[in-house]
Amino acid sequence: MDLIAQLIAEHQEFVHLLTRLAETVEAVKANGRGNYFVATLDSLVLPLTKELDDHALREEKFLFPRIVARGDATQVILQMVEEHGTIRGESAAFERHYGEWKAGDDQSLPLWTAHAIELRGKFSAHMQKENLIVFPMARRILTAEELAHLVE
Ligand SMILES: [Fe+2]
Ligand SMILES: [Fe+2]
Repeated sequence: MDLIAQLIAEHQEFVHLLTRLAETVEAVKANGRGNYFVATLDSLVLPLTKELDDHALREEKFLFPRIVARGDATQVILQMVEEHGTIRGESAAFERHYGEWKAGDDQSLPLWTAHAIELRGKFSAHMQKENLIVFPMARRILTAEELAHLVE
């Protein structure tokens, strides 16, 4: 599996996790706090913060510079990097306010749930642009050899 195939597989996994997050938001809003919901949310925090950041970092470090080096896709790549900033911001705000709510602050509920839903929306739109525009472009302009050695 080359880096692009790996990134696409991770997109699918993030979509899956973000769907579970949105379902849990609805459940908490309807039913309030519950051990099962908190356990589910706890299991989502690491993949949707650190692992999501790591995914974006690998795109920024190994893939985007090679696309930019090939020519005229700079604007698209700059937009992707800007969207990474927005996604990181939503992810960090979700984690922070969720932590406050978990520690007992009921007023943080509308905050972490809003950032959770915003994170899902921003990530879904972003990863579709990567899957449909950026990655196919990378496959066109990079050689098979480059794709195979992208992480080196
Ligand atoms: Fe990205
Ligand atoms: Fe991505």
